Amino acid sequence: MSGIDALNEQLSGLQDAAVKAFAAAADPAALEQLRVSYLGKKGALTEVLKGVGKLPPEDRPVIGQKVNAVKQALADAWQATSEKLESEAVSLRIEAERVDVTLAGRRRDSGAMHPVHKGLQEMTAIFSQMGFSIAEGPEIEDEFHNFDALNIPLEHPARAMHDTFFLNDMSNEKGEPMLLRTHTSPVQIRAMQRCMEDGEPPLAIVAPGRVYRCDYDVTHSPMFHQVEVFKVDRNVSLAHLKGVLQHFLSAYFEKDVPIRLRPHYFPFTEPSAEVDIGCVFCKGSGCRICKNSGWLEVLGSGMIHPNVLASVGIDAEEYSGFAFGLGVERLVMLKHGIPDLRLFFENDVRFLRRMGA
Ligand code: DAH
Repeated sequence: MSGIDALNEQLSGLQDAAVKAFAAAADPAALEQLRVSYLGKKGALTEVLKGVGKLPPEDRPVIGQKVNAVKQALADAWQATSEKLESEAVSLRIEAERVDVTLAGRRRDSGAMHPVHKGLQEMTAIFSQMGFSIAEGPEIEDEFHNFDALNIPLEHPARAMHDTFFLNDMSNEKGEPMLLRTHTSPVQIRAMQRCMEDGEPPLAIVAPGRVYRCDYDVTHSPMFHQVEVFKVDRNVSLAHLKGVLQHFLSAYFEKDVPIRLRPHYFPFTEPSAEVDIGCVFCKGSGCRICKNSGWLEVLGSGMIHPNVLASVGIDAEEYSGFAFGLGVERLVMLKHGIPDLRLFFENDVRFLRRMGA
């Protein structure tokens, strides 16, 4: 066999072997190894081409064409396999990372504000819009702010152990016992003291917060919320108290509710009144909830007692004030027709959801 024929045969053999080998490559790394071994600088093709130099010059263009054809065939075969392997790899990844978009989603429960907190914010906002400043006081109080300064004498039942949570192992700087405040009225004392440090009344405050009493039944919980509202200025009268109450209660219940002030006794106000609203359930005609009276008691109020003003050094001859304190849970219950106070604290999501939480 002449030189050119032998070379031709070698080239054809190489092409067949390489095309087969490329097609059988299992992955891109194997294909790359094959490419180097056939087409690389020290590869099989280079080896065969060494024979070209030994051919007579007239044969060289002929074998040159053959070489180009073989190179092209190898390149095409490599390309085809490479594309095949790549698309196989993509399919494998798609399979591995498959997401079934037809599956129903997993619902995430979303949280919401607790109905009592929502009520607290609504109430505070109404007073804030009327010009009252928001103040807070400590939940751990001493007897002076919770009782003495509010004209609550030692023999008053609210001071008895069974109502008040006293804190063991805790006393104020005077060594006096500490307790969980039983109402928000001590904020009156603290706010008036602060006011007197660097000035004089007027003072108009709304004080929302938690209070504590040793009690638990359908209408009582050991922790509940109150909003305390008071104003001290020259010439403050019962008329101001009634006007503020009328506006607040109608705004909170989102309708014109009739109110009445019923004489009562509180140690820290004189005169004192309990405030009733026309029953929101029967509109005053009498029902089970208002015990057929047509009225619902909603809060305690009065004109701040001169002794209370005196306890913080405010001249009761010059200044007067009104005050009232309301139970937040009670008002929220009345607004939404909730029968049992304990529902607020049991955190049953069926209840909270119905409340829009
Ligand atoms: N502090 C009273 C209580 O918790 C409520 C109250 C009554 C507050 C009359 C007042 C008021 O400011 O004037 O039962």
